[in-house]
Amino acid sequence: MLIVILKEVLILTALFGVLTAVIVIAKMIFSNYGDCTITINDKRELTVKGGLSLLSSLAEKDIFIPSACGGRGSCGTCKCKVTTGGGPLLPTEKPFLDAKELAGDIRLSCQVKVKESISINIPEEIFNVRKFKATIAEIADYTHDIKGITFKLLEPNNIDFKAGQYVQLMTPKYAKQKQSVSRAYSISSKPSLKNQFQLIIRRVPEGICTTWVHDHLKVGDKVNLTGPYGDFFIRDTKADIIYVAGGSGKAPIKSMLEDLKEKGTDRRMAYFFGAVTKKDLYLTDYMEEFKQVFDDFDYYPVLSNPTEEEKWEGRKGFVMPFFSEYIKDPKNTEAYLCGSPRMLDSVCKELVKMGVPEDNIYFDSFA
Ligand SMILES: Cc1cc2nc3c(=O)[nH]c(=O)nc-3n(C[C@H](O)[C@H](O)[C@H](O)COP(=O)(O)OP(=O)(O)OC[C@H]3O[C@@H](n4cnc5c(N)ncnc54)[C@H](O)[C@@H]3O)c2cc1C
Ligand code: FES
Repeated sequence: MLIVILKEVLILTALFGVLTAVIVIAKMIFSNYGDCTITINDKRELTVKGGLSLLSSLAEKDIFIPSACGGRGSCGTCKCKVTTGGGPLLPTEKPFLDAKELAGDIRLSCQVKVKESISINIPEEIFNVRKFKATIAEIADYTHDIKGITFKLLEPNNIDFKAGQYVQLMTPKYAKQKQSVSRAYSISSKPSLKNQFQLIIRRVPEGICTTWVHDHLKVGDKVNLTGPYGDFFIRDTKADIIYVAGGSGKAPIKSMLEDLKEKGTDRRMAYFFGAVTKKDLYLTDYMEEFKQVFDDFDYYPVLSNPTEEEKWEGRKGFVMPFFSEYIKDPKNTEAYLCGSPRMLDSVCKELVKMGVPEDNIYFDSFA
């Protein structure tokens, strides 16, 4: 009896081994796509090894398409036009593409695999995105879960960006994290500081990048990043400005205000900052100081759930009901919003209801 069982186990093990070998060989044959050509904007040609995503294939050639979620298919920032090749549209891409984009061959570059020669169109600004090495110059605790990190650039040693743009920070492999990931962070310092810049990073429980930043990153560490990315910057008009942010969404607005302080402006401006309790407020005095800098600026911190002990006497609830204190001429108002997708959605709806034209609303969603 024992011999029969042993025999069957041996046969099954042998069968399993053969099957595994067949799968490995099949994988080697079928996922070997050889060299493929990527033609960009009908003028540049790159030769890449087939099999990787379009996003990674371009990154290997130092062409960095925005990819705020690091290629996980959850942010939708890596869109580009694929005119030939690219294979069929995947279900993972559809939620991020509207009818116009679908009709216009727009794809998510992190989802498209390069398995054949492919032609794409990307904006020329993307060629300005560079890879940087930096060292951590300072780490400040702003709140229980928000840190301000100052990066000193090493190579290249200067960066050109517009106030409101973001960089993508690469984590190393750390602790149980076996892969490097990249995440988007808005620059919070002014563009005139070329050799260094600051980020404001809020801890996301269990988050790969923010756990590394909050628990492992030290002054003097060397890090890699790419940038600058994004089109969240102040438009050059005379319209009134309303800024709205929550949590670490303060970062790009801080950069915008510091930039305007240097350049000067006579635009009417107000900044609504939403937080939960008093311990989530930070840089309040710094923001209040802008009232002395600009002719017509106000800062409105609003707490949604202050505790009894905090004895908060300021504005309570959501930020939206307080917009009417500031907005006088909705048609002549521009909005710059930054924070979680849920907050942005409610704020956008309220602004449109108040008569602010949709085209005047600009935002970076920290998705
Ligand atoms: C354009 C842009 C600019 C950004 N700028 C900033 C910035 O200046 N400061 C900043 O702190 N963040 C910013 N973010 C968010 C940032 O890119 C990361 O998504 C965030 O830090 C979480 O990364 P992680 O690797 O720690 O978490 P992950 O490992 O990516 O996520 C872990 C889990 O938390 C969830 N999750 C991810 N992000 C959040 C979130 N924000 N809140 C709640 N749950 C979340 C995920 O769904 C996942 O389940 C920005 C995002 C974008 C798109
Ligand atoms: S990089 Fe985020 S969806 Fe492609």
